[in-house]
Amino acid sequence: MTETRPTLAVLGGTGKEGTGLGLRWARAGYSVIIGSRSAERAVEAAAAMNAQLGLNTVRGLGNAEAATAGDIVVLTVPPEAQLPTLEGVRAELQGKVLVDATARVDARNPKPPEGQASARLAQDLLGPGVRVVGAFQNVPAHALKQLDHELASDVLVTADDAEARAAVVVLAEATGMRAYEAGGLDNGLVVEGLTALIIAMNKRYKSKTGGIRISGISQAKEVIGN
Ligand SMILES: NC(=O)c1ccc[n+]([C@@H]2O[C@H](COP(=O)([O-])OP(=O)(O)OC[C@H]3O[C@@H](n4cnc5c(N)ncnc54)[C@H](OP(=O)(O)O)[C@@H]3O)[C@@H](O)[C@H]2O)c1
Repeated sequence: MTETRPTLAVLGGTGKEGTGLGLRWARAGYSVIIGSRSAERAVEAAAAMNAQLGLNTVRGLGNAEAATAGDIVVLTVPPEAQLPTLEGVRAELQGKVLVDATARVDARNPKPPEGQASARLAQDLLGPGVRVVGAFQNVPAHALKQLDHELASDVLVTADDAEARAAVVVLAEATGMRAYEAGGLDNGLVVEGLTALIIAMNKRYKSKTGGIRISGISQAKEVIGN
């Protein structure tokens, strides 16, 4: 039986986190589209990724075209650009899964964010026609981009839609990480708080690759499905 893999569009994929995720998904055999405010920058970034991997499966498009072309769309833009970027592609995202990696944390002064989870804000903006999933907020770009290193981060995946949450666990595992279904979108506030903790610890211990590891759950899918 032929496996049909979703095409993945990464909006803001020219940046640190999006490049790391895109490289890992392309290496795992996914068709990846890099989205950018500038189609030219996206094409350049895609060409660099293809050259690094020895592939020709990464494409570059403007964010709106990328959102149209992707089956699953991933958002990796700075926190202040999260909602404006989504506002610009709201129509293109209808009927799709949007994976939001936004961690609303200032790296210079890392503190847990207040208010609502970033992915909840995205869901409220996009409406019920888009299934929003929070993921990758704890995964340092520096580690993602080191393709020859094993990733020491687990991925906590939150969503109100169980099917979308499970689909993103599969995507996260394809990057080489362990991934866990971690409840509804509002739990993303805790996940983003962990990002503040990790940044503070990376500073204290002069690291760029700190992450979190879940213990005591060896078969995440079976446990959560029971
Ligand atoms: N860096 C990490 O280690 C890390 C880890 C976990 C989660 N995250 C989350 O991932 C997201 C991206 O982080 P990053 O470090 O990858 O960011 P980044 O490299 O600073 O920016 C990513 C991309 O966003 C686009 N962008 C920048 N400013 C924008 C604006 N004002 N409006 C629209 N697009 C803009 C740019 O693409 P174009 O100029 O090509 O449009 C840029 O290449 C953040 O929400 C962050 O919280 C990051």
